[in-house]
Amino acid sequence: MPSAHATLAPLVSAAIDNAFGPEYRDADPVLRPSQFADLQSNAALPLAKRLGMPPREVAQRIVEALDVRDVCDEVEISGPGFINLTLSDAWLGSAVDALVADPRRGVPQEAPERIVIDYSAPNVAKEMHVGHLRTTVVGDALARILEHLGHTVTRQNHIGDWGTPFGMLIEHLLDVGEGSDEALVVETDPNSFYQAARRKFDSDEAFAARARSRVVALQGGDQDTLRLWGELLDLSKHYFNAIYTRLGVSLTDADLAGESSYNGDLARVCDELTDAGIATVSDGALCVFLDGFRGREGKPLPLIVRKSDGGYGYATTDLATVRHRVRDLYADRIFYVIGAPQSLHLEMVWATARKAGWLPDSVEPVHVKIGNVLGKDRRILKTRSGAPLRLMALLDEAVATARAAIDADRPGLSEEDREALAPQVGIGAVKYADLSVAHDSEYVFDLDRMVALNGNTSRYLQYAVARTRSIFRNAGEVVVGEKATTITQPEERALALALLDFGDVVSEVGQVLEPHRLCTYLFDLAQTYSVFYEECPILRAEPQVRASRLVLTGLTRDALALGLELLGIDTPETM
Ligand code: ARG
Repeated sequence: MPSAHATLAPLVSAAIDNAFGPEYRDADPVLRPSQFADLQSNAALPLAKRLGMPPREVAQRIVEALDVRDVCDEVEISGPGFINLTLSDAWLGSAVDALVADPRRGVPQEAPERIVIDYSAPNVAKEMHVGHLRTTVVGDALARILEHLGHTVTRQNHIGDWGTPFGMLIEHLLDVGEGSDEALVVETDPNSFYQAARRKFDSDEAFAARARSRVVALQGGDQDTLRLWGELLDLSKHYFNAIYTRLGVSLTDADLAGESSYNGDLARVCDELTDAGIATVSDGALCVFLDGFRGREGKPLPLIVRKSDGGYGYATTDLATVRHRVRDLYADRIFYVIGAPQSLHLEMVWATARKAGWLPDSVEPVHVKIGNVLGKDRRILKTRSGAPLRLMALLDEAVATARAAIDADRPGLSEEDREALAPQVGIGAVKYADLSVAHDSEYVFDLDRMVALNGNTSRYLQYAVARTRSIFRNAGEVVVGEKATTITQPEERALALALLDFGDVVSEVGQVLEPHRLCTYLFDLAQTYSVFYEECPILRAEPQVRASRLVLTGLTRDALALGLELLGIDTPETM
């Protein structure tokens, strides 16, 4: 059951083709919703320029060639040459019936691609910051949406589990004692462990020396050092998983592919680049210089793949990720859901990988750029004392804020219900706030606004779903006949049109990777339903109309609930 847009677009295109010949076959049917009709085609205007004809005459010729007998009641030319198309009630009714018969509610099953998504990627023995929260939430929504569209999604959690800080972290672990409370704090408050190690490293010369030789032992593969490193990793995984569970994020240990997992590839990466003449030694470091990448004063900008001390860095590891994802994971598309400032890094890594033949033209890497989360002062979100926020504390606060809002708005609910609702509303609110703005723009983290019952919030949407569910509880047994839907009222028409768009919107989000479009759609749908609910009595209507309105209500419930599920947001039974 294609949307109205998808139904009419090829018909308008065919009419253009018939009226003016195949050289105009590529002309865009330009269909937009309009206040005067269900859809309006603006195609005659640009065509008139190409043809050197008056636009209204072009519109007239298109209309004469247009065969929309089974779809539209009315076709009208208006203004300078717009074509207004009004769908027939009968077409709308049968399109809604077809939507009911489709268990996927219009979401297409697409030709499966292998898609690798790099997201979350926190660092071991460090706090996850709000930036990590956002890549986690956005990446997870994309993974869910693409999987639902039929693609094979491989999640890659590129955690920071390697590098020089492990020298001091391991020495600090030895100082406090493995298994001690001070070591176990990594499971709940990793930053306090990190800070303690850092303070010693900065103030205690003997400790710093130990830390440095520990790095050498780690890189040299010393067994005991690797065991200690593994211990820190396990403690950190505990923390990450606690956050993921709390957030309802689909990442598991099986998705971990941290920096360390590429250790065995890095020498090969450098050798292949050297052998191919792509990398050259400059000031002792192995570098790649690429056309078009210049730094300040036009100086060529190097991508350093091996430092002068022989160590490898972030760029080398990311080159290895491209190679691995194409060669071993057979990726058709690769998404890096990472902070916007890393865009130059990724561009250089991909350009190098293309040159080296690790990234064929058929594979498209995409940087899903993640913007900053700001505090009310419009600066990067911090605690009042200026320290980085503890993510778990932030989530606790979100749940507490939700609880207070529920207590205030819904005093009639039992204590038990309110307790159960608070995490669903609070966590949903945090995730939705991240998802409902373009992923590359900044937004202000404001819990009170996020848990509001009015406005573009998850709570509003959760409430809308709960309302549709309660209508069905009150309706008793509902028997839906085959030709159940009759559309007569304008509010029914608006709702039917919106419901028919659901599949297109999900599919589009899978293409453009912008979950906020799904949020906007769901919010509009919930508002359209609200107007319908006000104007069109459901349970009190006569049987035929009642059945039809219940069909529209059921489809609204399904689109909202599935839409929220694809965003990773719970839908409580009652609100
Ligand atoms: N761990 C990094 C950070 O915290 C993010 C890694 C992103 N993924 C990647 N393939 N570079 O900033």
